Amino acid sequence: MRQVRAKVIRKEKLLGELERPDARTFNRPEARNTSGSWLVWLRCPEIARESEPGQFAMVRCGEECPLPRPFSIHRVNDKGDLALFFAVWADGKGTEWLSQRQKNDTVELFGPLGNNFTLKPGTSKVLLVAGGMGIAPLLFLANQVLKDGLSVKLLRGASGEYKPSGKPNPSQHYPEELLPRGIEDVKTITTSPDGREKMVLDLLTPEVINWADQIFACGPTAMYRDIAKRKKELGLLEKSVQVSLEMRMGCGRGLCYACTVKTKTGLKQVCKDGPVFELDDIIWDEIASNI
Ligand code: FES
Repeated sequence: MRQVRAKVIRKEKLLGELERPDARTFNRPEARNTSGSWLVWLRCPEIARESEPGQFAMVRCGEECPLPRPFSIHRVNDKGDLALFFAVWADGKGTEWLSQRQKNDTVELFGPLGNNFTLKPGTSKVLLVAGGMGIAPLLFLANQVLKDGLSVKLLRGASGEYKPSGKPNPSQHYPEELLPRGIEDVKTITTSPDGREKMVLDLLTPEVINWADQIFACGPTAMYRDIAKRKKELGLLEKSVQVSLEMRMGCGRGLCYACTVKTKTGLKQVCKDGPVFELDDIIWDEIASNI
């Protein structure tokens, strides 16, 4: 784990206004995204070169945020740059601060932290299931396994507005042109206006499940709970499904216990024992629905 002061190399706004899947379900108007989703590249070779897909970094986000904030590592490049992809929600002071940094500003962060996605011996076909901003750590994994010659399919979903024409608004989805080259198949779905139909899980068909050797998912807890409940019906009993958990964190280093979850093998800390877990290891009913 390294602690560094990194320069902002580049910043781009990638998506327009979004809504968290839980914003309506739990009547949380503050969960609306107010200023879009951002891609921020930081020059920090010390962290970038040690990072593995699934890991995260803690970023100090200005004086108004006494605690550092966790961000999935989204990409790294050969120059030692590291990208963070995040949405700025109305209740997100830290993300708002980060989105306002300009080129050459300095950002303090430490990482890489946590465990990473792991490929089992013999895996050659990888299925990625991304709910909303969950695409952030999955594209790092996609880049790496594509370089190693594996086949990758991506299912992605986003909640969000419909255009007046009734068509899903494509601005809710990570831009197609920034997806790693070589993904065999990208299926995209946008949640209907009532939030009930057309979830990313509707793309999880027996055909695509049979194709995959391993499945990696990142998205809201409700999505994981649904997959866990429907494992048999979906034909997933024999498949390894690794999920990346997003939790509120304090220290990011296993010291404060703010990120504790119940698993079948006891209490675990998401920052230290995760954020990647086998779907079956988590006791989903013990995790709050609005995380
Ligand atoms: Fe402090 Fe995980 S954030 S123990």
